Amino acid sequence: GGQGKKPKVLSGKDIPSLVKYMKSKDCKNVFLMLGAGVSTSAGIPDFRSPETGLYSNLARLNLPHPEAVFEINFFRRNPVPFYTLAHELYPGKFRPTITHSFIRLLSEKSLLHTCFTQNIDTLERRAGVPDDKIIEAHGSFATQRCVDCGEPYDDEKMKEHILEKKIAKCPECGGYVKPDIVFFGEGLPPQFIQSLPNLRKADLLIVMGTSLTVQPFASLAGMVDTTCPRVLINLDRVGDFGSRSDDVVLLGKCDDIVRDLCKELGWEEELNELWETT
Ligand code: APR
Ligand code: ZN
Repeated sequence: GGQGKKPKVLSGKDIPSLVKYMKSKDCKNVFLMLGAGVSTSAGIPDFRSPETGLYSNLARLNLPHPEAVFEINFFRRNPVPFYTLAHELYPGKFRPTITHSFIRLLSEKSLLHTCFTQNIDTLERRAGVPDDKIIEAHGSFATQRCVDCGEPYDDEKMKEHILEKKIAKCPECGGYVKPDIVFFGEGLPPQFIQSLPNLRKADLLIVMGTSLTVQPFASLAGMVDTTCPRVLINLDRVGDFGSRSDDVVLLGKCDDIVRDLCKELGWEEELNELWETT
């Protein structure tokens, strides 16, 4: 064949092999895919972990089914469960984790191309990851608008309503106001769609703290070149990890694995410094 991309082969499926590759000139563009598992140690429950996951703890909101709390048609009929949850999850109450500091460190080492996150907790940006490297695929609490007429709603007023457990209503038409979080049945932000082609540039994909059960986000893992090593850092094996020759599966708590990885990279001191000042 022609001068196709030189296969970047990892020498092994362990942290030392991964670190050798990360230090090599072949590894320039690192892409991340994050899920709620990276924020559990910050005190924010994930969705599907048995016992602790949000979806097994919403009984108090008496929903028809747990995901209804993020369904647009349910919200239009009854915004109370979502507002109750929003009060509990509202950004500002939680501190980023050491895993979030690792993401910032990747950026400071000029290795981070894009951090795709499903999380709405804004902990990536709170940890100091540059905004232009973060794609919040499921939106965030940063802005909000009326679900009926689309009229944007004031940020400060929304924050007051959520903190005081009051439902915000559109001054124009009286419709309910919803943060720009992507609900089931809604499209993902254009910024997410436009950034998909960049995945072809990935020299390394690291997937952390996600069950890879929600589309289209989960499909990103299949969009990197077959010559691009993929690393899963998760409590359990998910998606099709293990199906490609350069898949590395590191099972365990992401904070622990990130510490081991940074020790091997010689970044331990810088990582702790960043985290202590977050
Ligand atoms: N370290 C590593 N992995 C962890 C940790 C941890 N400390 N804590 C939890 N996990 C793993 C869980 O084992 C699970 O595989 O993280 C994953 C979390 O999966 P989910 O709870 O399904 O969260 P997520 O994948 O982010 O959900 C995706 O679903 O409801 C929608 O829009 C919502 O963005 C969310 C999407
Ligand atoms: Zn309106």
